[in-house]
Amino acid sequence: NKNTSWSGRFNEPVAELVKKYTASVSFDQRLAAFDIQGSIAHAQMLGAQKIISLDDVKSIETGLAEILQEIESGQFEWLLDLEDVHLNIEKRLTDKIGDAGKRLHTGRSRNDQVATDVRLWLRATTDDVIAGLKGLQLSLLDLAEAHFDTVMPGFTHLQVAQPVTFGHHLMAYVEMLTRDTGRFVDCRKRINKLPLGAAALAGTSYPIDRELVAKKLGFDGVCENSLDAVSDRDFAIEFTFAASLVMTHLSRLSEELILWSSPRFAFIDIADRFCTGSSIMPQKKNPDVPELVRGKTGRVYGHLTALLTLMKGQPLAYNKDNQEDKEPLFDTADTLLVTLQIYADMLRLPVVEDGVVVKKGFIVNKDNMRQAAFEGYATATDLADYLAKKGMPFRDAHEAVALAVRYAVDKKVDLSDLPLTTLQEFAIEIGEDVYAVLTLEGSLNSRNHIGGTAPEQVKAAIARVRKSMS
Ligand code: ARG
Repeated sequence: NKNTSWSGRFNEPVAELVKKYTASVSFDQRLAAFDIQGSIAHAQMLGAQKIISLDDVKSIETGLAEILQEIESGQFEWLLDLEDVHLNIEKRLTDKIGDAGKRLHTGRSRNDQVATDVRLWLRATTDDVIAGLKGLQLSLLDLAEAHFDTVMPGFTHLQVAQPVTFGHHLMAYVEMLTRDTGRFVDCRKRINKLPLGAAALAGTSYPIDRELVAKKLGFDGVCENSLDAVSDRDFAIEFTFAASLVMTHLSRLSEELILWSSPRFAFIDIADRFCTGSSIMPQKKNPDVPELVRGKTGRVYGHLTALLTLMKGQPLAYNKDNQEDKEPLFDTADTLLVTLQIYADMLRLPVVEDGVVVKKGFIVNKDNMRQAAFEGYATATDLADYLAKKGMPFRDAHEAVALAVRYAVDKKVDLSDLPLTTLQEFAIEIGEDVYAVLTLEGSLNSRNHIGGTAPEQVKAAIARVRKSMS
């Protein structure tokens, strides 16, 4: 069992099944580039502190650069016997450059090494997520801009409540994603601290310079307690929580897209490339992407639960349990990034050149949206407000309008279809000017304050977000 770097103490080789059970190389090899980056910084610091010779540093740098090449070109042979990404790379380095390679691990442990690798990887991934969120917001903003005055029913309890604009509805999601972005920006600050130098758990007796390593690797500072540095994965949990909330938001939107694309609503059409058909029912066009986003949200929540549970029983400091952080974390990031990318594309407006659609996009059936708002007595509140403004106490106005709606439902007509004399039977205060109030546009335009659905306000909201993003 000469392959492993720690076998000296053992008097029988590790069982084959146990090797497979304990190895992480099949999934942690994706940290390779960051492992090498961290090792180079560590070696340079060892050289600067005269802990190893500058010749050794040179050989290490050259050797690791070659290894990175081998990995990127797919020539590198990953060995299960070598357990994880760290030992695979170190062994290859030693095969290449001899003793200098064996000196790389001076003053370091795999415990602080792996924590550093994960943080480097997660920092880059967080930046990708922030960019992905921005991309989705840009799609939403374009769509909201195109529909800043498109009328739709706003719902509470999934019952028609009051008219809103489709742009206003979309801007609600833009707000959610702005807060999501803030969570990742904030989480990044805590990711971006250097564990290296903590060694196995207690620090090291070599005269290391942790600040120098932090600077070389772009960290904002060092983890200030060695036990904490190697053992906590709270930064990974935070990332997964922030990801879970993004998925929550997109799952809600997905639920709406699924409903809206149902022929019963027929508010929207999702471009064919995001849908699939049925092998039995020829008429079907299924909104697979939103359905899968909704489904994958559960998967990400599962990862959050896994990471929280992974942490809760661990005494300080490092335990091998922590090796189980990677698959949930990697899958969370992979799921989130691809979801953001597909979603941004799915919500994009059709691309039109010289009046011809050159790329299909998200279609909004304005007439159906409008009709649904119209049929749902969405302006009943406006009528009650109208009466209250004429001096009737709001509770009485509410009652009068409720009776008028009941009458209109019976007659299968809209409130605005009722003649003035009929309306006046419910409240004598009603005058000819009521019809302006009962229109969908009248209702929308009257909600003209920050946060309201008036088209003018929707435009202003879009402009504010665009400005804050530039
Ligand atoms: N593969 C391990 C992990 O992912 C690296 C650290 C192992 N350290 C140890 N002493 N066994 O956490």
